[in-house]
Amino acid sequence: MPHAVENGEETMRDLTEENVTEAVLDKIQGMGDARTKELLGAAIRHAHAFAREVQLTPEELYQAAMFFTEIGKISDERRHEFLLLSDTLGLTILVDAMQNRKPPGATESSVLGPFYRAEAPEVKSGDSIDRGNTGGDPAIVHGTVKDLDGKPIAGAVLDIWQTAQNGFYENMDPDQPDMNLRGRLTSDEDGAYSFVTVLPCSYPIPDDGPVGRLLYASGRHIMRPAHIHFILSAEGFKTVTTEIFAEGDEYLDSDAVFGVKDSLVAEFVKNDSAADAESYGVTAPFHLMRYDFVLEPGEGPAKPSFSAGGSA
Ligand code: BEZ
Ligand code: FE
Repeated sequence: MPHAVENGEETMRDLTEENVTEAVLDKIQGMGDARTKELLGAAIRHAHAFAREVQLTPEELYQAAMFFTEIGKISDERRHEFLLLSDTLGLTILVDAMQNRKPPGATESSVLGPFYRAEAPEVKSGDSIDRGNTGGDPAIVHGTVKDLDGKPIAGAVLDIWQTAQNGFYENMDPDQPDMNLRGRLTSDEDGAYSFVTVLPCSYPIPDDGPVGRLLYASGRHIMRPAHIHFILSAEGFKTVTTEIFAEGDEYLDSDAVFGVKDSLVAEFVKNDSAADAESYGVTAPFHLMRYDFVLEPGEGPAKPSFSAGGSA
C-alpha cells in the first residue's frame, strides 16, 4: 500500500477505513530514531486495531481524551497518575517481568512504587529503622544474601523502605521523622543481614484522582497487602527491586497493583516472650521474619521499574 503516500500528499484524499492505518504508518517512516519509530508504529497499529475492535464512537473518543486530560492535570513531579494507571492495569508489572526474567532460585522482582527515596541513612546490622511516631509491634527482619550456588554475598546493599502503621510513607506524613522506616544496610561476611522495624500493614493507593474512580467503577478496591520494599545491589550481581509481603494478609490475592508473587511472601512470626524480645532489644509482642535473598550474576546498576501515585 500506501500508494497514497508514494504518490504524494494528494492521494491522502483517498483515505478509507481500510487504508488509513497504513497511510499513518507511512508518515513516520522518516523518523530518525529506530526504537522510537518502532514504539510509535506499534502504538498507532494497536490504537487503530482497538478502535476497530470496539467500533469506537466520537463520544467515547472524547471521553477518553477527557480522562487522560484529568490524569495530566492531577499529575506533577510528586504525583504520577499516568504511572498509577499503568500500575493498576498491570502494565508496570508486565514490563517489570519482561525486563527481569530470573533463573530459577533467584529472588523475583516486583514494582518499585512511587515512594522510594535515594540516600536513605546507612544502618548497621541489628539497628532499627523505626525513627519515631510509627506505631505497631516491632518486627525483626533477618536473613541472608546469597548467589545462585548458595555462596554468601558479603557487602550486598539492602535499600529498605516501608509505611508506618497509619499506612503512610514518611514523605507523605508530616508527623513522621524524616527518613522514618528507611535505611541502607550491608550484608556481613556470611551474607547475613538483620534490622528492626515495625510490622508492615496493608494500605491504600491514592484514590482521589481519575485512577481511583476507574478502580471503583471496575468494582475493585485500592489496597496493597502489607509489604516491605527492598532494592538489593552487589558488585558482580544484577540489582533487584522487590517487595516482601506478609503471609496471611487479606489483600495478597487482590493487590491493587499486581505486585505479589508466591516466592515473595514470608511469615512474620509473632512472639510473646519478653526474654526473646529483650535479646533483640525490642519489647514483646514482636514479630520475626526471615527472608533469604538470592542474586543472579550480572551487571550491577539499578534498573528499577518505575511506578506511581505519590512522592519521592
Ligand atoms: C507502593 O508500594 O508503595 C505503591 C506501588 C504502586 C502504586 C502505589 C504505591
Ligand atoms: Fe509500598
